Amino acid sequence: MSQSGDDSRETSAPSTTKVVGVRRLKEAMAKPASTRIFTVANQKGGVGKTTTTVNIAAALSMGGLRVLVIDLDPQGNASTALGVPHRDNAGIYEVLMGSHEISTVVQKVAGFPALDCISSNTSLANAEINLVSMVARELQLKEALETISVNYDYIFIDCPPSLGLLTVNAFAAAKELLIPIQAEYYALEGLSQLLETYAVVKKRLNPTLNLSTIVLTMFDGRTRLANDVAANVRSHFPNELIDIPIPRAVRVSEAPSYSQTVMTYDPLSPGAIAYMQVAREIAERGKAKEENFDSNVVSIHYKKDGESA
Ligand SMILES: Nc1ncnc2c1ncn2[C@@H]1O[C@H](COP(=O)(O)OP(=O)(O)OP(=O)(O)O)[C@@H](O)[C@H]1O
Ligand SMILES: [Mg+2]
Repeated sequence: MSQSGDDSRETSAPSTTKVVGVRRLKEAMAKPASTRIFTVANQKGGVGKTTTTVNIAAALSMGGLRVLVIDLDPQGNASTALGVPHRDNAGIYEVLMGSHEISTVVQKVAGFPALDCISSNTSLANAEINLVSMVARELQLKEALETISVNYDYIFIDCPPSLGLLTVNAFAAAKELLIPIQAEYYALEGLSQLLETYAVVKKRLNPTLNLSTIVLTMFDGRTRLANDVAANVRSHFPNELIDIPIPRAVRVSEAPSYSQTVMTYDPLSPGAIAYMQVAREIAERGKAKEENFDSNVVSIHYKKDGESA
């Protein structure tokens, strides 16, 4: 076990630990006006896409919101982290191929009041090939989601580390793009390719897609490099960057091996606290605007001088 990191306490939970119930937060998180659908993407591998997806989703659910995670990666890491079966059961692949209705593959995540997951399975690796011959191949996920998105406040799509058809389907189905960036030397390399794909999808498939959120992951504030990367990202994306970085923390990386998010595995650890703060910030940014709508006032039509009735 690693001895470094911000919270390198000994692991005490046995591997059979199951989540039995998650406490709701005292202060609920703000509800969006309509379903916010995020695609979590970065074609660079291992930057924290899955970790960010499952923990923000778990945190929002603890904040009282209805959340769905779609595992769009054949590796199935999001399904594992959420503790849902994904090897031998139908999941998102079958939906994309049109053999299953999306509502039939939704699974409840144990312990959470309103957190669902659509799992991936290894067949999903064939999707890139099998989708090619389909009509409207880039829009399969978008069309499938239309029937269930009203059931949720937040939907997160966890992408594989590539810019193939699966990721393009996610870009086409989403309203917002969330990019996790690992605070390390090569962080911004390769981002141009991702932004290019974003621009093409915006132009051709999904004009309203919005790169709204960037989260810095595995941040080690003691190093100058991490701080330089943060400053660089902030200068390029001042509005998109969430100013709460996720620290590199042992508990975060341990949680998936117990089929848990860090939000339940060790809710008071620095990683869990940071993800909770990021989730709250995301919810705040997207909350429904207060309506000061007074129908008595707006229904009166004042006739201006010279205006005919
Ligand atoms: N804040 C963190 N502190 C420590 N380890 C972390 C943290 N975030 C992620 N990790 C670990 O880094 C590795 C990569 O994370 P993750 O699987 O979330 O990345 P990914 O971008 O989804 O990877 P892939 O591209 O393979 O899908 C995992 O082993 C994960 O446990
Ligand atoms: Mg992943």
